[in-house]
Amino acid sequence: MTGHYIAFEGIEGTGKSTLAGLLTAHLEAMGKDVLRVREPGGTETGERIRGVLLDPGGSVSPWSEALLFAAARAQLAHELVGPALESGSWVVTDRSVYSSLAYQGAGRGLGVAEVRAVNEPGLGDVWPELVVLLTVDAATGLVRQEDADRIGAEGVAFQTTVGDTFEELALADPDRFVVVDASPDLDTVWKQVLQHVEGRWVISSEM
Ligand code: TYD
Repeated sequence: MTGHYIAFEGIEGTGKSTLAGLLTAHLEAMGKDVLRVREPGGTETGERIRGVLLDPGGSVSPWSEALLFAAARAQLAHELVGPALESGSWVVTDRSVYSSLAYQGAGRGLGVAEVRAVNEPGLGDVWPELVVLLTVDAATGLVRQEDADRIGAEGVAFQTTVGDTFEELALADPDRFVVVDASPDLDTVWKQVLQHVEGRWVISSEM
């Protein structure tokens, strides 16, 4: 793997998509090849699974949910992310395996280690190298959220558990995670994100 795989993570309403878009545009302006993806989804199979997972009227049991997210992710790794990294591209994703650890592992109570174990076989070494964790308190995040999907419609207690778990995952893995307070205005948050990315890689001189 010669490319770089960057994931934006956080609860609802932290601005992940906007910041992933800004980073993608910045890297492209620096002449980099960038694959921008989102989870769940990103492939035809993944988008179909996304429909099942997020349909507000749908019924999906906790383990079915965890396995469907893992299936969509395995497809994305096989079809797009793995090949892109092998060809030296940058990959910027809106959510990753860490969402499953936080939402299904902790939020649904399936166990972080158990959910990690069902994801690993489908991913191999296709694993985010840098995770930008955007934090905001759960109540603020829910107010900022635009349209609630089936999982996003869970209440403040669920979002708080998920947010706390993201922070625990970050504390346990400080070489992979950076934590950015997403409560200030977008420009301030973006500057922080860029500082972290540029602190890790010299973007302008790197091929
Ligand atoms: P999305 O439309 O991407 O929402 P957001 O703007 O919040 O990122 O929907 C993703 C939803 O699925 C969101 O509620 C979080 C949830 N999710 C999981 O529960 N587990 C996962 O592994 C992933 C990738 C997402």
